[in-house]
Amino acid sequence: MKIIRSIVRGTGSYLPKRIVTNEEMTRMVDTSDEWIVSRTGINVRHFAADDEKTSDLAIKAAERALEMAGIDAESLDMIVLATATPDQTFPASAATVQAALGMTSGFAFDMQAVCSGFVYALATADNFIKAGQVKRALVIGAETFSRILDFEDRTTCVLFGDGAGAVVLEAHEGKGTSDDRGILTSHLHSDGRYRDLLYVDGGPSSTGTVGHLRMKGRDVFRHAVVNLASVVNESLDAVGLTADDLDWLIPHQANKRILDGTSRKLGLPPEKVVVTVGKHSNTSAASIPLALDVAVRDGRIKEGDLLLLEAMGGGFTWGASLLRW
Ligand code: UT7
Repeated sequence: MKIIRSIVRGTGSYLPKRIVTNEEMTRMVDTSDEWIVSRTGINVRHFAADDEKTSDLAIKAAERALEMAGIDAESLDMIVLATATPDQTFPASAATVQAALGMTSGFAFDMQAVCSGFVYALATADNFIKAGQVKRALVIGAETFSRILDFEDRTTCVLFGDGAGAVVLEAHEGKGTSDDRGILTSHLHSDGRYRDLLYVDGGPSSTGTVGHLRMKGRDVFRHAVVNLASVVNESLDAVGLTADDLDWLIPHQANKRILDGTSRKLGLPPEKVVVTVGKHSNTSAASIPLALDVAVRDGRIKEGDLLLLEAMGGGFTWGASLLRW
């Protein structure tokens, strides 16, 4: 049976120039390099410059993805930008990206699922492509979490950083089997009962302020390992594959211990997990496309490889996408 598949034509990413070490964090809060490395695996994070907005990071990542894809922004039908830290309350930061890229047709919007945002955005674009409404989509995850961190709260401010990653998707005909290139299946979940475990204590209709990130880390950690392993298995089951078939796990980069826990639960060897949390920290919706771009550009990911992308974040939201490169 012939079906439409969304294949990845190009990837791109961008990290702000300013690198903040754990040592620098010890000058802001009562913490240590030893605590941060042993509890999270984070060595450094990047922070955007004062005049650098989420859309600026997104535009740079998008330009690199378009360049790798060898296509012009004018031929895109859709931009979906996953972010929890938009430039403004409205318009969508995706509209700023659209204008900067010189794309005057199609449509652009933001998507808000916090750390799961990229997986949500990818699934959304894939569904537009599979429905035949879109041929080429730009999917971006971009964040400036440094703007919503409380630099007096050591339990959160050491964990997050800024960055952006993007992919260009294109409609291609597939045979409808798991040998097809492109996105094979996506699975999204949320459970709003847990929204108070990871949230921002501000917003336009509540406080009229931007607010700061608050997290009950230990509770989030516990749910993350269980939910992630479950959604990964759900994705593999949906197409009749097993963890042994995976070439690469590209997880949301929140904590090295969560990555280790998930891969252990799946029986996946550590060499098959792309880990960038040490250099990028947790960049929320940007973390998966950032990690993906690193592993594509250093030659690890090759045509035909089976990739599993997974994330979990505030809401709670979680999800996974299985794709063949
Ligand atoms: O991306 C969205 C999803 N987010 C996540 O997946 C994050 C999930 N959670 C985590 O990654 C981990 O729970 C954390 C890294 C946030 C925390 O690690 P933990 O091993 O769960 O530590 P904890 O919260 O249980 O805290 C242990 C101790 C506490 O001290 P006491 O109460 O045992 O005396 C904390 O006060 O570590 C203390 N602590 C710190 N010490 C030094 C907390 N933050 C720091 C810090 N430096 N920055």
